[in-house]
Amino acid sequence: MNPSLDMLNRQFALPGALHFVNGSGDLPVVEIQTPLASARVALQGAHLLAWQPAGATPVIWLSQAAMFAPGTPVRGGVPVCWPWFGARDGLPAHGFVRTRMWQVRAASTDETGQVVLRLGLQDDADTRALWDHAFDLELVLTVGTTLGMTLISRNTGDQPFTLTDALHTYFCVADIERTTVQGLDGCDYLDKVQNFAWARQSGPVEFADETDRIYVDTTADCLIEDQVQRRSIRVSKRGSSSTVVWNPWRDKVFADMAAGEYQQMLCVETCNAGPDQVNLTPGQSHVLTAHISL
Ligand code: BG6
Repeated sequence: MNPSLDMLNRQFALPGALHFVNGSGDLPVVEIQTPLASARVALQGAHLLAWQPAGATPVIWLSQAAMFAPGTPVRGGVPVCWPWFGARDGLPAHGFVRTRMWQVRAASTDETGQVVLRLGLQDDADTRALWDHAFDLELVLTVGTTLGMTLISRNTGDQPFTLTDALHTYFCVADIERTTVQGLDGCDYLDKVQNFAWARQSGPVEFADETDRIYVDTTADCLIEDQVQRRSIRVSKRGSSSTVVWNPWRDKVFADMAAGEYQQMLCVETCNAGPDQVNLTPGQSHVLTAHISL
């Protein structure tokens, strides 16, 4: 059941900076608007839908055909993939937390005027049926002229577990064919388009076809160079050993993506994926952070 907007606004609204609205598909959405930036976050999935520093054009891409419905993933924004990244037999792709309703834990404004929003999720009977572990998950979003996203995974049970995860960030680009990604030169990657064959990156990543790669063993910043807008987006990270770069290109058809939209989007995902896995013993936490700046 959706939390009541009145209750959320009474408890967490920040006058002039943050409030809760009924978004598309009746999904509750946090709207943030400050002199520094604007952002929107759906409570389902703790899914950041938009972020735009003041004076900039949108940085985060959202499909025009995105679907907003209980239990349906959203195409675009920043899906949180957890406790597994990618496909898993008979189970939802990219885990189950991107379609669950998260709780609001806190909202505040810091001394620099950034909004800090904390959303949380814990295991219950439904998550136990999919993945039989006790956990606490928290996403801390820091919305200002830069965007901070910190995902804290905690093992609250008495058994160890292993997870993979991603802040699966979709970025706006003016023209994918005139976009490159710097920072992965020399990295080994699993090429999902070539049936998970290993390959090694040489120079910047360029786009002329479907691209779906897990770059492993890399903690480097990436720079998305948009040659048309003459804009660089920096993705820096901590607690992440892999970076996924994805563009589905022309021929992949998704019900929630319009024809031709692939030209204006690019995913550079802050992950622990493929062979890069996180092991958590009882009581242990893992912190995954991505910082996005122009
Ligand atoms: C990427 C994967 O992270 O997400 C791709 O590497 C996948 O293989 C893409 O197609 C989108 O996944 P989904 O489940 O949101 O359609």
